[in-house]
Amino acid sequence: MPDLRYLVKAIDDAGELLRIKRPVDPRFELPALLKQAEARRKGVLFEDVKGAAFAAVGALLTSPPRFAMGLGLTDSTGYSAHDHRDAVFAAIANPVQAALVTQAPCKDVVMQGEAVDLGLLPVPTFFAEDSGPFLTAAVGISRNPDNNILNVGIYRVLITGKNQVAVSVGPSSDLLQFLAADKAAGRTTQIALAIGVNPELLMAASAKVPPELSELDVAGGLSGESLKVTQAETLDMVVPADAEFVLEVEIDHQQYVPNTMGEFGDLYGTQNGHIGTVRVITHRRDPMFHTIMAGAGREHNSLGFIILYDIEPGLKQALSKAFPQVSDLRACFAPPTMGMPGELYLQIKQGSTISVSELARRVFEMRVGRWDICRVIRKIVVLDADIDINSNNDITWAINNRALTANHHLFFEDLPLPGVGMRMAIDTTVAAEDRERLQRLVIPGSEAIKLEDYLDD
Ligand SMILES: Cc1cc2nc3c(=O)[nH]c(=O)nc-3n(C[C@H](O)[C@H](O)[C@H](O)COP(=O)(O)O)c2cc1C
Repeated sequence: MPDLRYLVKAIDDAGELLRIKRPVDPRFELPALLKQAEARRKGVLFEDVKGAAFAAVGALLTSPPRFAMGLGLTDSTGYSAHDHRDAVFAAIANPVQAALVTQAPCKDVVMQGEAVDLGLLPVPTFFAEDSGPFLTAAVGISRNPDNNILNVGIYRVLITGKNQVAVSVGPSSDLLQFLAADKAAGRTTQIALAIGVNPELLMAASAKVPPELSELDVAGGLSGESLKVTQAETLDMVVPADAEFVLEVEIDHQQYVPNTMGEFGDLYGTQNGHIGTVRVITHRRDPMFHTIMAGAGREHNSLGFIILYDIEPGLKQALSKAFPQVSDLRACFAPPTMGMPGELYLQIKQGSTISVSELARRVFEMRVGRWDICRVIRKIVVLDADIDINSNNDITWAINNRALTANHHLFFEDLPLPGVGMRMAIDTTVAAEDRERLQRLVIPGSEAIKLEDYLDD
């Protein structure tokens, strides 16, 4: 199964890897460069991070074509979020069990006891108000106390000391339930934080999978080949054998800190940080520390969007019965911030009529899978059939030209949204009497007329 080094090499071979040899400060300087690399669609390797013993790499899984590279597909061009969604669903339906190995590169070097020093890692502090340096690509492996299955998620982790971390755990995370159950039973919680893991495992960790399934096996399903795992040094669990680093952590439920950090929507958020002690750090020889640009970064949002993959098919099914006038829909993290909560575009069949207010309210009140739609969708835009639902430009055109009066903007202030204000819908559908006046400009037959065919050699 491709590991992180395979992906970095594939990006390099495609001419998309920047190498920064000059020393960079992990506090603000590294994130500033990482953000610019993402904007240029480049991956980036920081060979010399000030104060750290290891190189850092980032801006890797920033788009569906990069997901394809990470999956080892020979042709990544044209690979879409829908292709990736289908691959994730297929992997959940057909997991491949992880394989235990004894020869594990992640154990090339073992630091234990006094030798444990998180200061050696090139951990960035991203934004002005962050609580401190954050691991952003740490895949956390923990045991579900109900069924003993190993659960995997990505959790951002604040470095609070030489051998101490605070693991950020959000309200919808399965890990939060395990922590509560362990605390109630008087047990510590063991969690392995693996950094620089196989791309398939990063993708599986970002997805919501049923509790009876381990994301370790979903990673196998994504690749068609078992993920290699090895016994941890001090924890009662296995860890990914190809990881660049593994931190073995024990949380004793005695201390918490507020972890303030950059969120998907380009604003700060605060999650509860569960303090844990790092008993052991193991790493590969010449390890590469994977760091994901926090906030509205491309890698953060591309991986983050995986959790919403089940929204579109679930809504399609629900709407096909309740509102057959809806012909198509698309959920996305909308530009420019690309943040959660996202936007939902609903297309109406040509010639059909619908109450947009009723439609939007019903959709906001729906629950699809684990999601209350009003929690994950901020704005619904309703489109006529002549607007390309996959074109952000078309959608902006429709909003700018067909939703110019107050009654096209609907606000829903009474939804069950603790702490957040309201949700909105924009109705860009055109009334019959306005249709001619608000037509789009069309050149008849233009799709078949190609400029290249008219250029002389
Ligand atoms: C880059 C990235 C960072 C994330 N950071 C956090 C985090 O700090 N805390 C959290 O609870 N979830 C975070 N998530 C979301 C979880 O990884 C995701 O919800 C996962 O399914 C949680 O797994 P669990 O429900 O099995 O615990 C992050 C996701 C991504 C892609």
